[in-house]
Amino acid sequence: MPSGYNSAKLRSDCPRTSLQWYTRSQNRMRRPTLLLKDILKCILLVFGVWLLYILKLNYTAEECDMKKMHYVDPDRIKRAQSYAQQVLQKECRPKFAKTAMALLFEHRYSMDLVPFMQKVPGASEAEFQYDPPFGFRKFSSKVQSLLDILPEHDFPERLRAKHCRHCVVVGNGGILHGLELGHTLNQFDVVIRLNSAPVEGYSEHVGNKTTIRMTYPEGAPLSDAEYYANDLFVTVLFKSVDFNWLQAIVKNETLPFWVRLFFWKQVAEKIPLQPKQFRILNPVIIKETAFDILQYTEPQSRFWGQNKNIPTIGVIAIVLATHLCDEVSLAGFGYDLSQPRTPLHYFDNQCMSAMNWQLMHNVTTETKFLLKLIKEGVVKDLSGGIHCEF
Ligand SMILES: *[C@@H]1O[C@H](CO)[C@@H](O)[C@H](O)[C@H]1NC(C)=O
Ligand SMILES: *[C@@H]1O[C@H](CO)[C@@H](O)[C@H](O)[C@H]1NC(C)=O
Ligand SMILES: *[C@@H]1O[C@H](CO)[C@@H](O)[C@H](O)[C@H]1NC(C)=O
Repeated sequence: MPSGYNSAKLRSDCPRTSLQWYTRSQNRMRRPTLLLKDILKCILLVFGVWLLYILKLNYTAEECDMKKMHYVDPDRIKRAQSYAQQVLQKECRPKFAKTAMALLFEHRYSMDLVPFMQKVPGASEAEFQYDPPFGFRKFSSKVQSLLDILPEHDFPERLRAKHCRHCVVVGNGGILHGLELGHTLNQFDVVIRLNSAPVEGYSEHVGNKTTIRMTYPEGAPLSDAEYYANDLFVTVLFKSVDFNWLQAIVKNETLPFWVRLFFWKQVAEKIPLQPKQFRILNPVIIKETAFDILQYTEPQSRFWGQNKNIPTIGVIAIVLATHLCDEVSLAGFGYDLSQPRTPLHYFDNQCMSAMNWQLMHNVTTETKFLLKLIKEGVVKDLSGGIHCEF
């Protein structure tokens, strides 16, 4: 009897929908909604399996625990700190970074690009020539409605007022851990952080000043503690739902469930910043970085990234910094792929070898570019991960 009950229950669990289907099929009005529900269930199932697969991949990945693996020679700490102080104390040269970039890359670098979206581009303008992330082709109305709710589109007055700005782009590299550069990084006029890079608990290594946080929606920190009252939140828009996300965040609205499905990881639902703190990165900066400076081939299909032609957000931020600042330094950059068992980030357990798995970025090309910038004196490498000058 119990086994019969079980099999009956099993049978009734599965074919119930088809049973309902038969009983309701006479009622033509209800049919489409039922079909829709089935399709939705199917999609959810596939999504669930995919999610489990991703989680499993993460779970079985090698771990590189920062605390166990990272020892920094005290002598090296001293040298790094005094080098960073030396860089900071050198006189700031107005417009140095962009002038140097223009000399180095000639017509491939435009000295008068605006860093953030200010107005909706006309159909013939550069912002309109490519699909995201390289341009906003076919997104003019979405850009318009975003710009309408953003009260400010420029660098804040208090920063524009400064005669000469010395910026540092803080990358997320494990190399930052232990150099104790936090105190020095805090003294830069502008500190640019990337994606979810945490400050809480790491301020000794990365400082606790954030002027700009530049990220795509999936990278936005989930913890309120990572946002400061004077931050600028610079959004990098890659896909259609990224526009919906930014709108919901700025208007303090709830993101619809169906929109959330399109993100590849959990996204922040509330960000404790005022609308005037949000900016949209000018996509022409990404286009300039990818096609002009790194000379990647232009996308052949809508599935961007296939041919490793998306620059990392770190390299995009450095190019942005040359447009925004007078002097530019960087810290926490450099992927040393010959050391697969070193920590990739200063804040988690991923190993350097994880970079061999990613499909979007060409690490070799980026490293060459950064090395060129450092050797030509355009930017300074404070943690020595690309090229050590201390
Ligand atoms: C950074 O840390 C210092 C000392 O720990 C503190 O005085 C300062 O208020 C912090 N700054 C920010 C922006 O949190
Ligand atoms: C955002 O909305 C929530 C309710 O959903 C409210 O508690 C909060 O105060 C709002 N924040 C702002 C900045 O308006
Ligand atoms: C990266 O770019 C270089 C050219 O700088 C090219 O030779 C190499 O094949 C590219 N690597 C990948 C994995 O696409």
